[in-house]
Parts: sequence; structure tokens; C-alpha cells
Amino acid sequence: MPTSTAVTMCGIIGYIGSMNASRIVLEGLKHLEYRGYDSVGFAGVLNGSLIVKKDVGKVDDVHAKLNFLEHNLNLAIGHTRWATHGRVTKTNAHPHIDCRKDIAIVHNGIIENYEELKNELVSKGHVFRSRTDSEVVAHLIEEEANNAASFEEACFKAFSRLEGAYAILAIDRKDYKIVAIKKGSPLVIGLADHGSFAASDIPAFINYTKKVVYLYDYDMVVLKPDPVFYNIENGNLVKVERPIQSVEWDAEKARKGEFEHFMLKEIMEQVDTVQRAADQDKKILEKIANEIKRARGIFLVGCGSSYHACLTASYVFSKVAREHVNVVLASEFPNYEHFLTSKTLIIAVSQSGETYDVLEAIRAGKKRGSKIISVVNVMGSSLARESDEFLLMHAGPEICVLSTKTYTSQIALLNLLAYTLAGRYEEGRRRLKYLWNVIYYLTSANTRNKIRKLAEKLADKKHIFCIGRGLQYPTAMEAALKIKEASYIHAEAFAGGELKHGTIALIEEGTPCIVFVSEENGKEILSNATEVKSRGGYIIGISPTNHEVFDFWIKVPECGTENPIVQIIPVQILAYQLAVLRGCDPDKPRNLAKSVTVK
Ligand code: AGP
Repeated sequence: MPTSTAVTMCGIIGYIGSMNASRIVLEGLKHLEYRGYDSVGFAGVLNGSLIVKKDVGKVDDVHAKLNFLEHNLNLAIGHTRWATHGRVTKTNAHPHIDCRKDIAIVHNGIIENYEELKNELVSKGHVFRSRTDSEVVAHLIEEEANNAASFEEACFKAFSRLEGAYAILAIDRKDYKIVAIKKGSPLVIGLADHGSFAASDIPAFINYTKKVVYLYDYDMVVLKPDPVFYNIENGNLVKVERPIQSVEWDAEKARKGEFEHFMLKEIMEQVDTVQRAADQDKKILEKIANEIKRARGIFLVGCGSSYHACLTASYVFSKVAREHVNVVLASEFPNYEHFLTSKTLIIAVSQSGETYDVLEAIRAGKKRGSKIISVVNVMGSSLARESDEFLLMHAGPEICVLSTKTYTSQIALLNLLAYTLAGRYEEGRRRLKYLWNVIYYLTSANTRNKIRKLAEKLADKKHIFCIGRGLQYPTAMEAALKIKEASYIHAEAFAGGELKHGTIALIEEGTPCIVFVSEENGKEILSNATEVKSRGGYIIGISPTNHEVFDFWIKVPECGTENPIVQIIPVQILAYQLAVLRGCDPDKPRNLAKSVTVK
């Protein structure tokens, strides 16, 4: 399997068939908006002419302005952009077209050799309109079409010259087909009786079909009523067969339901998703536990919230299974690659399974013969396919850019693995089953209303601190991340024991400090809370019992090694409510994308 490199987080969708392609693409773009929403565009073929509509802004705004539904087409492609090359302008929005306005393309990824190709094409007379790398694809196909017997042949020749990472959909006004190529960026095919789809992610077309084909790098698909699958192997276009799989998600899950935002919906789903994460094949867990026992050097690797889940797991593996695991931020992994051997085990944790830094880390491990096990939420993801073994979180689609249910699913799954490693699988299973009632209480309207009162007190704060010890320290880190991402309030996490080493200088009158308390280290962390309080801090206790040091108390029952699952939930709710109070969009925070697939 060829490796892939950095890619951007745009969303692409295409449909060809007997239904209204304009409507399907518009709906698909809405579902893909979490992947990027600087600008959006649409292209289709009407009576042999190319229709292209695009502008800066979110899908609803641009559609209201340009009316993507003006024509009832049977072939269309669409794109939501998260800018990397070129500023956020209408000209830089996709789709991009060739000189003769015959060809339109949408692209997710980075064409690393675009300057060289652009110079060559300009010298042949091509005129470029944008500052993007992607536009070079349209002109390259146009150029190759001069000596090609078909549109797909021109595409094949053009794609063969690209370096970097890309998922591309290309259409020609004279030809009734969509040509798709995948290399490094996610692309999945949907098959229905009335037509076929190509998209960056399954939610884009899940309302129409659950039959999907996951593509491999260098797969090229000619989408027409009967799609044809190829792979570009050593410069040749080879026909291939790809299995058709059925996804477990139904349309309802991929929609908000009665919730205003996906973030709240997904927080509420944790009553069930923690249970689903625990629903693993015991034999596979035992097999992986044996891999851990055999390994000489274990690395837990992840980014963002997934990294916090890895850090949490390192404490649980230590306490429950007496197993030492190294935890490394995926982006920092290159500093440890010299330790990797064929005896090393890398456990990669990634909800999307497309995070660039995580993929690079496991590829470095594979080069050195290390064993790769991953914990993912998306079965067809690059990480799942490139791992020796993978465990599915079964959390269902997480549409909100911020991870909530997938974070607690990761912890639940890794806890169960630690208990299995310790020969205590049944106990691990029982401990997770017990959480159903706790999470039900924590996500109840009563608890949410109480937290809302806290949010109203904190909504105008400039800084919020979070402290914890032991298992509560990574929880404090995740709490700070949630608050920052959702509400843009600066939040910072400290290990309780670190406060006196400098950071307590930051505490001023009224500085809010969220304190995570467990039976295991309650005395010490409460002492830290008292130090903060004596300097004017406002203490919020996430704790099984109340204490006089608390100015605000949120009751969270003691759950031992499962505290990280339950204690984060009130802060997820707090972060959500702060976002809403501050007029932020919790589902699509500024500057963020769901799957960070660039360096
Ligand atoms: C979490 O709220 C963030 N959106 C982000 O830190 C995320 O956890 C990180 O990018 C890792 O994503 P992954 O799990 O898909 O690899």
C-alpha cells in the first residue's frame, strides 16, 4: 500500500444517477461542513454545458446566494474548503475549471509538485485563475485530453503525474461520468440502485445508501450507472474488484435529531456509546493483551483528546495491569523513533483514523517492523487499514468537531484492555456496565440545568484553570481543551502538585479553578484547592462529596479507574453551554476541523 502524505481537511461529494444530483450534493455538503467551511462550491453538467457555482461562506449562505438547486441535474460534484494554499476568496474556492471550461474538479489534499506542473502548463499556454494548488489538476487533465481516447484516460494520465495527497472528483461537460481518485486523502464510494456517490466521508450520502466501498490509495473509479474500479499500479491502470460493505450507521444517527447542536446530541449519547465501546470481542482483547505481554517497549500515540485518552490509559495500565507504557504526542513521535524495533508495540488512538501525525507515527513503526494496533471509530479509515489489528469504538458518527463521546469511548475501551491484560476482563466489563446509571444522571436535564448556572457565572471570564492529580490530571487536560475549543476562553490544566512550582502566581481574585477530586487523592488535591482559594480563586468541585472549599459543587459519584469517563462529562456540558452563551458554534469552532490531516 503506497503511503500518503499531508492532506487538508476539505470535504468533497459527487453523485451521478437518476435522482436530483443538485439536491444530493447540497445535502452532502451540509453533512461535510464539519470538514471545512471557509468556502463552498458546486459544479454539474446541463445540456452539454458546465454549471459552476461557488463563493466564500458556509453552505447555507452560498446556496441562498447562488441557488445550487436552480437546475435538476443528474451529475454533480461539490466541495467545502478549509484553506491551505491560497487565501479564502471566491476565485480560490472549488470547483476549479480548465481553460476551455469543459472540465471541473474538486480536490481534498495537497499537490506537492503543483508549482512545477503549473509552470509547465503555463508555458503551454494555460491560464490560471486562482492561487491554489488544486487548479493545476483541471488544466493537467485538459492538456492530457489532447492525446487521450477518453476522459478517464486523460484523468489517469494527469493523476499519474501528481505528487502529494489527494482525493479528486473530475467531470467533463461532454461526458456523462465522474472520475474519482484517492491517494492519501479519504474517499469512499456509495452504491445505490439509482446511482452512485463519491465522498470524503459516509455521512455525506448515508441518507441514500448504506452500501459503501472503501478505496485504497491509487484507486481510480469511473462513476457512471455501473462504476468501474481501477488501481494505478506501476504506471498502469489495472481493473480491480473492491468489496461492498454495509455500514451500521442509520440516517438518524447522522443527523442532529431533536438537538440544536451535534455537540449536545453526542454528549447525551454517551449513556449508550460507553456501553458500545465496552462491547468488544473478548478473544480479540485477549489476543491484543498477549501482544502487549510479548512486546518490548510499548508506545501509546495520539493527538488532542485522543492523546489525553492515551495519557489516561497509561495510568490505568500502570495501576491495574502493572504494565509500563510510554505515551507520546504523535507530532513528537519522531524524537523516539530510534527506540523502535520489531519487538515494539505501537497502540495508535484516533477517532477519525485519518490524523496525519498518527499515520506518520505508525508508518515509522512499520518501517522498523513494529507491531501496530489501533483504536478507531471509522472502520474504513487509513489507520484501521494500515494497522495489524484494530479495535472499533462503535461510537457512531461524531459530527461535532469537538470530540466528546469518542473520547469517553476510547477510555472505556482502553480500560477494558488493561483489565483484560490483568486477567480481570469480567471485572472491567462490570465496572463499565455500572456507568450507565452514572452517565444517565450526569446528562440529565437536572444536572444540565445546574451546570448552566455555573456557565452563566463563567461566561465572561478570561481564564479558567483545571487541576487534578493521578487519573484526574489527564481529565483536567481534556477539560481545559474542551473549554478552549468550544468557548474560546483561555483554559489551562495543571497537575495539582505543580501549582506551587510557579503557576499559582496566575491566581487572582475570582479566577475560576475546576478541581477534579477522587477518593484516591482527594486530600492532596483539596489542599491544592485551598491554596488557590486563599489567593482569591473561585473553586468548582467535580467530586463525589461536597467540601467547604468549593464555591460550586457538581456531584460525580466515585468510579475509581472509570473516573476519567464520568468526571469529564460535566465539563463537556459546561463547555457546550459556555459556547452557546458566548455565541460560538460548538459544532464548527473557528480555525478547527474534525480530522487534522496535515502536518
Ligand atoms: C478534540 O476535541 C479535538 N477536536 C482534537 O484535539 C482531536 O481530538 C484530535 O485532532 C485527534 O483527532 P483523532 O482522534 O481523529 O485522531
